[in-house]
This record gives sequence, structure tokens and C-alpha cells, in this order.
Amino acid sequence: MYCGSPVGTVAANDPGDKMPLNYDQVFVRDFVPSALAFLLKGEGEIVKNFLLHALQLQSWEKTVDCYSPGQGLMPASFKVRTVPLDDNKLEEVLDPDFGESAIGRVAPVDSGLWWIILLRAYGKLTGDYALQERVDVQTGMKLILNLCLADGFDMFPSLLVTDGSCMIDRRMGIHGHPLEIQALFYSALRSSREMLVVNDGSKNLVRAINNRLSALSFHIREYYWVDMRKINEIYRYKTEEYSTEAINKFNIYPEQIPSWLMDWIPEEGGYLIGNLQPAHMDFRFFTLGNLWSVVSSLGTPKQNESILNMIEAKWDDLVGSMPLKICYPALESEDWRIITGSDPKNTPWSYHNGGSWPTLLWQFTLACMKMNRMELAHKAIALAEKRLQADHWPEYYDTRAGKFIGKQSRLYQTWTVAGFLTSKILLENPEKAALLFWDEDYDLLEICVCGLNTSGRKRCSRVAAKSQILV
Ligand code: GLC
Repeated sequence: MYCGSPVGTVAANDPGDKMPLNYDQVFVRDFVPSALAFLLKGEGEIVKNFLLHALQLQSWEKTVDCYSPGQGLMPASFKVRTVPLDDNKLEEVLDPDFGESAIGRVAPVDSGLWWIILLRAYGKLTGDYALQERVDVQTGMKLILNLCLADGFDMFPSLLVTDGSCMIDRRMGIHGHPLEIQALFYSALRSSREMLVVNDGSKNLVRAINNRLSALSFHIREYYWVDMRKINEIYRYKTEEYSTEAINKFNIYPEQIPSWLMDWIPEEGGYLIGNLQPAHMDFRFFTLGNLWSVVSSLGTPKQNESILNMIEAKWDDLVGSMPLKICYPALESEDWRIITGSDPKNTPWSYHNGGSWPTLLWQFTLACMKMNRMELAHKAIALAEKRLQADHWPEYYDTRAGKFIGKQSRLYQTWTVAGFLTSKILLENPEKAALLFWDEDYDLLEICVCGLNTSGRKRCSRVAAKSQILV
């Protein structure tokens, strides 16, 4: 509550927890499933308050060791603090964390993207489009977009970020161009395109958004996708190709294909890899990024279908006793030591390193509803239902099959409860759920005329490159 009105939900509320750290704060990403539950139940007020208060925090003067991060940055979290005034009265103030207090000083890149996605959901589910049309809200949206679309040294249309800049907010080797950020970026761009009021002041931004959307979807669909056929192609790659015509554009050495993947990849289905950089493909499967690619149509219709087929084929590994594994497989031994920096919270098959996070259920449900695979969602919800309440709504589960409550897991974790409730409410309201996902956008495909066939590939890269230069 802030000044008498609800403004969000705290991350966890375990009465027995004496050391809540920052779990007593409202996290932007954690609030999303709660917000959707409120909206689906016709309680829009708290979501509107949240959106407007986060907006105010966005334009705060923020400094981390004398350095000011970009103006449009949304905080990872905020809390309501009471401060005593001179006359024995108390005043409530909002206190944001932009990463300057967060463990590891990680940048909350996903917060602004989620804020935009939630703003769209608010309009769609309440019919109150006046909020997104307000001048301050339009300005807030533009500040986030300007930060994301700013020119840098990037060679790719994907967004370049540091490690731990999303749900996985600790070092896990996901710096560069992690899939989760790309999927959120894509859907935030699609949301903004629907919401931005087009006038002389915004038309260049709208054009930049359109160009980025088509370049981004081409890049991810073409270079992040793996299945049996593609892995076999990589396995036979030539390396050290110098020319614009190179097949192995990122100079991936076939030795990089991990042995687990050769055995693991099913005949049917495929997925988008975790990250792509020069000479580096991170072949780990990251659940949120893949699910959100389905929801936002970042993947092609065929790829989206294949992602769910793969989750079905690899059910024991990706769902096991508790939906859903945050990533697969876990980093072990030397990899764990070097990549996580010997993080004791991220030991193999725990927390971010292959732990199971029940909050991911709502994204899974939404993806299943979009692709008409409701039976998968029902199966996962039934598993969660068996244990969550009895276990007091843990934040995450550990071990390969997700059998144990996580070593340092909080209890009464809000987005665990909300992920479960929202999944159920979504299934009861398919027409409302349909307002939350995106179908293939054929206009975008026209900007980049490509299929995923080999002959189209070269032509498309050129067309895409040319349209970038013209802009
Ligand atoms: C952990 C999670 C992060 C979440 C926060 C609050 O840090 O990694 O995604 O926002 O807890 O629940």
C-alpha cells in the first residue's frame, strides 16, 4: 500500500523469514503474473497504480558510484518506506532499486520491457486505453525504447546486455544476447507499435521499431534455431570462412556442440538456443525465452509448434515433478566454477542453474493455449497443484527432476502463487487469454522477405541489410 492505495505485491511474504533481504519489495518482473490475475478478475486499479508509480520512478535521478545509468531505466524493484517527519508524523516514500543495491549490481533490463508489455495487457483487458494515451505514459514508453534502440557498437539486431539482466539476475554466463531479453524486447516492440500515438514527433521512432522488429525476428529465427537437421549442419560446418557469403557466419567450431546435446535432441521438435555471439553458441535450453518466443510469435509458426513438441518429448527433463526447469542442463564442475564464479546458490540443479520455477507455469499455459495444446498445460498444472500448497508455495525446487524444495528457496513466494492462479484463470477465459498473445505479423515479413530455406537466406540477408542502411 502506498498513500492508502495498493501499488503492487511484495516478492515473498513468509512470516517465519527473519532475513527477507529484498524479498519484501515489489519486483517489476514478479508483479506481472499477479497483475494479470487482477486484470482477469476485473481489478484493474492496482495495476494502473503500479504502472503509474513505476513510471515516476523511471525518471528519477539515479546514481551508482557517481555514474548515472540511462534516463529510461525502470527499477528492478521498489519498496514503500516510512520516514519520520519533524512533527512526529510519518511520511511514506517510494524507494526504488535500479541495481545499485541489488546483489552483484545487475542491470534490470527486463523491467522496462515488462512494463510496456503490462501496459498493453492493461489496455486490452480493461478497455481503458486512455492510460496508454496519456502524455506522460507515452513519454515513459519512448524513454524505454530510446534506451533499447540507441546506437552502439552492435553488429546484430538483438539487444546487447550484461550478465544477470533478467529473471536470472546472477552470473550464469548469459551476457551478450540472451534469448529471454530478445523475446521480451520483441514483444515490447510489438506492444509499443500498437500503443504509440503516431505523429510528427514519433514517426521516426515507429519506423525504427518496424525495422528492428523485422531484423530481430529474422536474426533469431535463422540463427538461434536448432533441431536435428540444424545440429547436423553445424556438425559439418567449415570454419574460418572470410566473406559476406559465409555459411558459418559466426565461425562456430563444430567441437562446440556439447555431447549432451547430440544425445538429447529429439527427432521431432527443436528450440531456440540461449545465446549467440561470435564463435559461441550457448546450446542450453532456457525456458522463459522459448515460451515467450511462442507467445510473441518471435518464432515462426512451425518453430513455435516445435518448441512445445520438444517440451513434450523432453517432459521428464524440463518438467519432471515440478514445472518448469528454468534452464537445461545445469552447469557442472569446471563450467560451474568458471561460468558462475563458484556461486554457492547456483550449484548444479539448483536455483537458476537447472532449478525448477513454478512461476513459469503461466507463461507455459499461455503458450499452450496459443498453440492449442491445452492438454499439456492441464498436465503441468495438475503436477503443481499436487505440491505447491502443501509445500507453502516455494520460490523454486532443486534436483534434476525438481523433487526437493530449493535449498535457499523462499516460501510464500508471490509469483509462485500468482503463476498458478493465473494459469487457472487463463484456462477459464480463453477469449481473454487470446488478447495476451500475438499472431504472426505478415507486414513485418514483407519488410524482410524470407523463408527459412537455403535459397531465400542470402537474398534475405541482403534485403534486410539494405533496409537497415536506408533507414
Ligand atoms: C530472485 C530471482 C528474480 C526475482 C527475485 C525476487 O532474485 O532471480 O528473478 O525477481 O528473486 O523474487
